[in-house]
Amino acid sequence: MQPIEIKKDIFWVGAVDYDLRDFHGYSQVSEGTSYNAYLIKDAKNVLFDSVSASFAGAMLCRLAKALPLEKVDYIVCNHLELDHAGALAELVDRCKPEKIFCSQMGVKSMQGYFACKDWPVQAVKNGESLKIGSRTLQFFETRMLHWPDSMVSYIPEDKLLISNDAFGQNIASTVRYADEVSEEYLLNAVEAYYYNIVLPFSPQVTGALKALGGLDIDLIAPDHGLMFRGKQSVGYILDAYARLAEQKTLKRALIIYDSMWHSTEKMAYAVANGLEDAGVPSRVMSLKHNHHSQVMTELASCGAVLAGSSTHNNGVLPAMAAMLTYMKGLRPKNRVGGAFGSYGWSGEGPKMIHEWLASMDMEMPAPFVKTQWAPGHESFGQCHALGKAVGQALLAKCGG
Ligand code: FEO
Repeated sequence: MQPIEIKKDIFWVGAVDYDLRDFHGYSQVSEGTSYNAYLIKDAKNVLFDSVSASFAGAMLCRLAKALPLEKVDYIVCNHLELDHAGALAELVDRCKPEKIFCSQMGVKSMQGYFACKDWPVQAVKNGESLKIGSRTLQFFETRMLHWPDSMVSYIPEDKLLISNDAFGQNIASTVRYADEVSEEYLLNAVEAYYYNIVLPFSPQVTGALKALGGLDIDLIAPDHGLMFRGKQSVGYILDAYARLAEQKTLKRALIIYDSMWHSTEKMAYAVANGLEDAGVPSRVMSLKHNHHSQVMTELASCGAVLAGSSTHNNGVLPAMAAMLTYMKGLRPKNRVGGAFGSYGWSGEGPKMIHEWLASMDMEMPAPFVKTQWAPGHESFGQCHALGKAVGQALLAKCGG
């Protein structure tokens, strides 16, 4: 449990949580995550962010190997969500810092979470600088990326951006740099993180990339997952974020469904055939076997969403209601949509799904398809036509 030097006198002092599966109560992570905290040793020793409360001991142990805890002069809280501030009370108690810096909104989060009236808290403004010896800290607010309190810290002398949640990934590993893993693995982790956490704040991402665009950066150190070192790796993640924020329409479709007695399931595969005949590849995901956060990750590479559910109690099945609620909250843009489903006697489900997708500003090129009891020849034809119509609309949107 050693601190890891990432630049001269700058150390990673975080913790790796291999057992985490439920990230923040809404997203499933397959391999855990890391809580990255960083220490700069200078005339003033500065700690950036901390870890989840249950990893306080691990972090303090690592930190104490870099310097005696009471030598930490400043703590910078870029964001007060408890995966980065859960250990803060214990840290303050052990280190007794001279100052704790956060954004003005961060003061409110801190006061909400901690009995901190006696803490030496100082709010910093957007663009404010602070000399800590041979280095300068510059603070840039990234409000709503992804909380009101969020900010990043830039150290120009080291070309280092400590970016908090921005550019993070839920990767649990002894590896610390993005250039040490395959690009496919990295991209999946970046997209999973973006599409489940950052997506609603894409306008703020575009704004932040513009505001930070003038900085000379050769190391991005996020608070989750791997760091990006060197111009190529830094350029990679900045470009990836610009692309993800743009939500450019992609030529691939996602079919999600939940089914009681396999009728809606059969319809889903007929829809996939229609897409195939339009020349659009697709992926079918059953909501019984795929968590809503896995579906959102898949949406990163899809320009169309076709959703189907059996009608249940005059509505849709619970997993579909949860899925569409989650998806709508994450505000996907620039998609084409379609709805389908089977029913026994009332049949409200497909219309509800159609309206749900339309309320996400999806282009809906065809009416919803509903089938009573079990799909037959005619119904399969309608599903095929739905898939084909959505596929053709998607191709038109993509420019062919
Ligand atoms: Fe917004 Fe990683 O916490």
